[in-house]
Amino acid sequence: MTLGELVARHQIVISAGSGGVGKTTVAASLALWGALEGRRAVVLTIDPARRLASSLGLASLGSEERDIPAEHFRAQGLAPKGTLAAMMLDQKGAWDALVERHAPPEARDRILTNRFYQHLSQSFAGSYEYMAIEQLCALAESGRYDLIVVDTPPTRHALDFLEAPRRIADFLDRKIIKWFVRPYFSAGWSALRAMNRTAGFLLRRLEQATGI
Ligand SMILES: Nc1ncnc2c1ncn2[C@@H]1O[C@H](COP(=O)(O)OP(=O)(O)O)[C@@H](O)[C@H]1O
Ligand SMILES: [Mg+2]
Repeated sequence: MTLGELVARHQIVISAGSGGVGKTTVAASLALWGALEGRRAVVLTIDPARRLASSLGLASLGSEERDIPAEHFRAQGLAPKGTLAAMMLDQKGAWDALVERHAPPEARDRILTNRFYQHLSQSFAGSYEYMAIEQLCALAESGRYDLIVVDTPPTRHALDFLEAPRRIADFLDRKIIKWFVRPYFSAGWSALRAMNRTAGFLLRRLEQATGI
């Protein structure tokens, strides 16, 4: 299959692999190519590098999709038949959006302000992979794009990225986790000191379980 066919025939393309091989550059190039060929393309990157934003004609990448300005294409002598948008994965924001979508209204604020949740949503490695898939689903369901290119963080094996959500779900289903997590749902200030130590242990186990 040629790259042209890849871009023409797929709705979702994932750029995965170990660090420094060109994932971010390839993801941005594929989305650009799609836009030139007439597709409504978006690239979701996890790379906060300014270089990527500036090469796309944006001052910075945000956690919301932003269209690449038409004058930037013109300046490069390009006339895309489609459109190109870019966004950066916002790990914490994606967790919060997930809670807002799925939690019952009366539980929402309690979850968002829960210390264990705040720690989990910001600090364990597999969380990036999980949230990249979550944002990918949100983009796909929006119906706004017919080509979605996802850049991924470095993983030892490319498929780790795709398997992260299932591994995390399996891990969270285990009874031992409920035993660890329960104290934090009713945590007062007195629990705070013990929390960092226990949460650190839990997050290490979670990282082992996701294999990332
Ligand atoms: N096809 C290529 N040829 C030469 N250099 C490249 C190519 N693709 C990427 N690079 C350079 O390699 C470096 C790493 O690229 P990047 O896309 O950030 O990789 P990754 O996202 O996999 O870490 C960057 O400096 C980039 O400019
Ligand atoms: Mg990268």
